[in-house]
Amino acid sequence: MDNIVSAFTDSIEGRIRQLRPSDLSQFTEHLLRLDRDSRRDRFNGTASDAFLSTYAERCFHDGTTVVGYLGREGHVHGAAELHERPELADTGEIAFSVEPGHQKRGIGRRLFRRLILHAHALDYTRLLVTTHPNNEAMKRLARTFRARLSFSDGSTMGEIELGRPDLEGLTEMQLSA
Ligand SMILES: CC(C)(COP(=O)(O)OP(=O)(O)OC[C@H]1O[C@@H](n2cnc3c(N)ncnc32)[C@H](O)[C@@H]1OP(=O)(O)O)[C@@H](O)C(=O)NCCC(=O)NCCS
Repeated sequence: MDNIVSAFTDSIEGRIRQLRPSDLSQFTEHLLRLDRDSRRDRFNGTASDAFLSTYAERCFHDGTTVVGYLGREGHVHGAAELHERPELADTGEIAFSVEPGHQKRGIGRRLFRRLILHAHALDYTRLLVTTHPNNEAMKRLARTFRARLSFSDGSTMGEIELGRPDLEGLTEMQLSA
């Protein structure tokens, strides 16, 4: 926990917060602004506009936790998702998307940190993250949070054992999230 907390020294403009039901169109527009490479990295393949619109709606209707990064003007430019994996006990699957013009500014790390707080609140003990083996950004991000990555069939499965944070660690995460 100490290493994780000490890595949280970035500062960005804008806000990180859980998206509200009324934010569906904002979330959809964010996904639609992802370019071809980001779509491939996020969805492990091509993702059409129609697919993304349907996907966003499904997230908002199936209980997925979606945390957003809102820029100063109030638009969503980054998101982190926490999906239930009901077939795996106490396990969630997470995914991230930061628009190309906003990448490499520490937003992904802040989204990750906030998502971990939500995962603790929901009592998950394990998180999975999937991408492709050449996604250096996701691999570096995952490493910061001590994700163990394994490779098979061209996909990268990262696994994070959440454990139980101590009170001090949680407080520090909340203050810096
Ligand atoms: C992965 C992603 C969410 C990272 O978001 P971000 O806001 O750019 O990340 P941060 O700025 O917080 O950087 C996190 C780490 O990744 C590294 N990084 C970011 N972009 C990188 C790139 N293109 N190549 C290599 N490393 C990169 C940063 O240097 C940082 O590493 P460090 O902590 O060792 O310095 C973003 O690149 C993205 O949305 N990509 C498209 C979708 C995707 O790949 N999603 C993940 C699969 S679900």
